[in-house]
Amino acid sequence: MSCRAFSPRALRALSKFSAQAPSSRSLNRTSLFQGLSSSGKHCQKSAMTTTSAFFKAGDDFDKVQASRPDFERDTEVKFSKPPKPDWKEGEGGNDGGESLTKNHIEIDPHEEGRPVSNNYKLLISGVVPRPIALISTKSKDGKTANLAPFSYAQVINHDPPLFTVGFVGSLEKAKDSLKNLTESGECVINIISEHFVEAANATAVNAPYGVSEWEVSGLHQAPSSVVQAARVKESMLSIEGKVVETKEFESRATPGKKTGVLAIIEGVRFWVREDAFDKETNVVDLKVLKPISRLGGLAYGRTTDAIELPRPKF
Ligand SMILES: Cc1cc2nc3c(=O)[nH]c(=O)nc-3n(C[C@H](O)[C@H](O)[C@H](O)COP(=O)(O)O)c2cc1C
Repeated sequence: MSCRAFSPRALRALSKFSAQAPSSRSLNRTSLFQGLSSSGKHCQKSAMTTTSAFFKAGDDFDKVQASRPDFERDTEVKFSKPPKPDWKEGEGGNDGGESLTKNHIEIDPHEEGRPVSNNYKLLISGVVPRPIALISTKSKDGKTANLAPFSYAQVINHDPPLFTVGFVGSLEKAKDSLKNLTESGECVINIISEHFVEAANATAVNAPYGVSEWEVSGLHQAPSSVVQAARVKESMLSIEGKVVETKEFESRATPGKKTGVLAIIEGVRFWVREDAFDKETNVVDLKVLKPISRLGGLAYGRTTDAIELPRPKF
């Protein structure tokens, strides 16, 4: 079983909360909270139950982790040639047709007896890498701050700058970020870099409403300009955003049950770290940004290899 120790600061934040009367929203989260505050450790449920590409259910996560080489902090982004630099129009794949010899399995996501969790596992491991929006929000009264990562996230337009975020669950039982987002109409989307990946991951803790993931993570707040919610100071790129609209979706497996919410957010201010930005070209430097993406299971990806291909002209 994998258990991650929480810092005295995180535990102080949680115990501060325990002194307050829990709201009805927080009550359904108290079992995790109690486990956290009494043992001082947060045992990742997913580490015990998820079969990922990298370690199997039942494996000791800490043991697997310990067997791995150290993180190479100074890895430079390497640009190489594309797989087939002499590729010609109409040539298709670059593997000499090998992929054409393989068969595909057809899956109906709602075939009888198929648990929806199988769709989740397939999609999060297959649709990769996903950008992660580390979303900072504030409650409407400005008293409660929230920070959490979301990888059902993407930029979808630049004029106006638009972003989508998918929240699992309903509006009625909204995650804290979504509750704040719909009530305040605002947020800050922060891009995660290698130098604060552990802290960003820590903000995914299922803390009761009112417990600040800022304290749990040790990340620092920087003032925003147009919205109430703070930016993550450690982030190379933060986007202040206003909610354009939300749309709730219904389960196919359990008709009538609301199981997902899409939020469309318009970016109204960008904050980019000076040393990561070329003002003349308006390009964020990948070598400084060192972005972290989401892969399947518990995995995060680094972007350390790249190729370039010119855009084709007709
Ligand atoms: C890297 C990462 C990506 C995640 N992506 C999503 C997502 O796209 N949608 C979602 O509903 N939850 C996602 N989660 C889970 C939420 O972060 C988690 O439920 C968190 O507790 C929500 O916090 P909140 O209730 O304070 O908003 C993700 C977790 C991690 C670690």
